[in-house]
Amino acid sequence: MKSKGQRVLSIAIIFCVTVCLTYYSNVKVWNGGRLSELGEESLTVGSVRKLLEDEDLVTERIHFPGQQKRLPQSLIIGARKCGTRALLEFLGLHPLIQPADQEVHFFDNDTNYNRGYEWYRDHMPYSYPEQITLEKSPRYFITEKAPERIHRMNSSIKLIVLLRNPTTRVISDYTQVYYNKLAKGKDMEKFEDLVIDRKTNEVNTGFRAIQISIYYHHLLRWLKYFKREQIHVVDGDKLITNPLSEIKRVERFLGLPSKVTENNIYFNTTRGFYCMRTPKTEQKCLGLTKGRKHPYIEHSVLQKLNDFFRPHNKKLFSLISHTFDWD
Ligand code: A3P
Repeated sequence: MKSKGQRVLSIAIIFCVTVCLTYYSNVKVWNGGRLSELGEESLTVGSVRKLLEDEDLVTERIHFPGQQKRLPQSLIIGARKCGTRALLEFLGLHPLIQPADQEVHFFDNDTNYNRGYEWYRDHMPYSYPEQITLEKSPRYFITEKAPERIHRMNSSIKLIVLLRNPTTRVISDYTQVYYNKLAKGKDMEKFEDLVIDRKTNEVNTGFRAIQISIYYHHLLRWLKYFKREQIHVVDGDKLITNPLSEIKRVERFLGLPSKVTENNIYFNTTRGFYCMRTPKTEQKCLGLTKGRKHPYIEHSVLQKLNDFFRPHNKKLFSLISHTFDWD
């Protein structure tokens, strides 16, 4: 049990910390940047916050005057394994974008959806009125009910979808599941045995990873609810090799000034991918679950997959009036 004196002292400390944080938030607003761009100051804020959380003195994420949790004005809807995490993180460098840390799975999960908009809002980050709240849950892309549900929440929402060579996406998907199973001590069938139906020697269209890569089929559903201009397609392959050009296109789509620059993104030779840095703070690459080495796949199987996807791709290209070099 704390004495009265100790309780008063705790309250006084919390008060001082709150005043201090408010001061730093004003610095942030004044700078027109994100907390993470403040470098040393953000460390101070971060460590004070961590201290408070460790001491169980705050249960809510600290926020600053003028900040609120808002329903997203933009969503990254998929597709899985096309670079959705990389894009979200890169866009988080923009001072006018507040990304949700976690995939919330609101529109693709009936239990979550039935919890209502307030539950969803509560999972959003705090933001200033001029900022765009951005959430990503790649399963939205393939969920039957998602377009209608999202349209009901906000018919003018801006949707971002990443697409990548569909065969590469299947391999990436397989690789992820393979490692997840490995971690649980489970075996996984060979890639070739999953994607090819050995009885017919045709592509196994019942395999979920194949179904996800038939982008045309899914996008058609979204275009029943949203205008083409509301859906921005990001080239997931280019995001790997030249992220800045893709980020600039997204900034334009969101109606934001271009803020993410060469200074924020650099190629990390050890990692083999682009990573992030802010002027004063640390360098950050994605976790090792992103950019895993893919298994070797027989050439004939790759050929079969490419042949299978080609007509679907063609329909996609005319649907979105854009061609990708996927052959
Ligand atoms: P691989 O792991 O197959 O290489 P998602 O985040 O949607 O799951 O996508 C994962 C993919 O993002 C990775 O697939 C990787 O190729 C790609 N990616 C794009 N930019 C990346 C980056 N800067 N760092 C790591 N992975 C990146």
